[in-house]
Amino acid sequence: MKITVIGTGYVGLVSGVCYAELGNEVVCVDKDAGKIEMLLEGKIPIYEPGLKELADKNRSEGRLAFTTVLDEAVRGSDIVILAVGTPPMPSGEANLTYINQAALEIADAMNGYKIIAIKSTVPVGTNERVAELIRSRTSEPFDSISLPEFLREGSAVKDTLYPDRIVIGADNEKAADAMVQLHRPLTDQIIVTDIRSAEMIKYASNAFLATKISFINEIANICEKVGADVTKVAEGMGYDKRIGASFLKAGIGYGGSCFPKDTRALIQIAGNVDYEFKLLRSVVEVNQDQRMNVIRKLETIFGGELRGKTIGIWGLAFKPNTDDVRDTPALEIMQYLADNGVKVKAYDPIALDNFKAYYGKEGVVWCDKALDVAQDADALCLLTEWDEFAEADLNLLQSVMKQAILIDGRNVFKEEDLLGTDFIYYSVGRPSLN
Ligand code: UGA
Repeated sequence: MKITVIGTGYVGLVSGVCYAELGNEVVCVDKDAGKIEMLLEGKIPIYEPGLKELADKNRSEGRLAFTTVLDEAVRGSDIVILAVGTPPMPSGEANLTYINQAALEIADAMNGYKIIAIKSTVPVGTNERVAELIRSRTSEPFDSISLPEFLREGSAVKDTLYPDRIVIGADNEKAADAMVQLHRPLTDQIIVTDIRSAEMIKYASNAFLATKISFINEIANICEKVGADVTKVAEGMGYDKRIGASFLKAGIGYGGSCFPKDTRALIQIAGNVDYEFKLLRSVVEVNQDQRMNVIRKLETIFGGELRGKTIGIWGLAFKPNTDDVRDTPALEIMQYLADNGVKVKAYDPIALDNFKAYYGKEGVVWCDKALDVAQDADALCLLTEWDEFAEADLNLLQSVMKQAILIDGRNVFKEEDLLGTDFIYYSVGRPSLN
């Protein structure tokens, strides 16, 4: 099939490359000429394992192209997939400006029947409104499809090529069949629903995963007080198939460009129809508070006085294997420390440059090596569970620190890793060691 993907962010770029890998002819379009130029030079604007190799292969085999010229790409395709951003507005509601702009441009380029699918996360009813918008500009025939995306950053290629399920929202059998045919090589688990339900599946899935995380984080907080170990609790819960083991890792709260945005948007979607989503409000509140978990531990250790201390930060990305720092818990933690007179030193294996651009304050010592962060530090806080940190030589680490204090915000280390060291060690929802 001939496919145009509009938007070369995480979702658009990964999907475009993977559709090409399935043997389709794909053109990825973006308004950002700089990004398209990079892609044409064989450079990938995001850090995503395996993506460059797959993009190179499909370009050299002639199935993948990049352009800024939307109308030409649309005219040459049977399926147009919108994967532009839907960033949050101050109210939490998704901003649909890019979706609407792209819809108008598609309408003006229409030259015969096409399927127009929205992969971007959009509020319930958006597909219908976009279809009306296009219909108001063109009499060319088309069908509208909701095609929510479930890939995770850091494992986006794998998630796209081996999905748990594909959800297709359609109001017409012919278009639904064509989309089923497109995705059949990926999985047999294809769920065809009406358009509104497909839009809702995306928000409900992210909200549920966020709920699991906030739930286990609250259990962790209680474990700390009653002397239980949340990793054991989560393991014991996870064997129950009705609960499932995934997304029960306690930590410093979820971040990234999806859960924070989509949970707030769903609260807003519910609010728009006079429904207060009380459970999800609490999930968001718990998540916000969990980011301060590390700070509370530092304050306990230092008797409430952090001023004048040197504190090292390991990990700035919102999770490992990505350079994405959008809504990363590290931001608020570092800002709090800086505002309270702490000298902060920070390192991340991949996301350092992105974080520097994102972080609004002066005065942080940015380090190129993990060990440099620890040098003369009063405490070290691990905020992202990169493998590099798990593999660190803790004796060497201790030898360069002013005080051997480790706050592990992601439960990376086990008790036996700390044996033979003098670390005062605090993690999340597990007994402290000192
Ligand atoms: C998430 C969903 O997992 C994807 O299915 C979805 O497609 C995507 O959002 C999206 O809507 O585009 P992503 O944000 O890339 O994917 O990352 P996750 O791996 O889900 O992690 C999100 C956050 O939750 C991270 O900050 C991570 O550290 C945290 N997390 C995750 C926990 O604190 N505990 C866990 O057990 C799992």
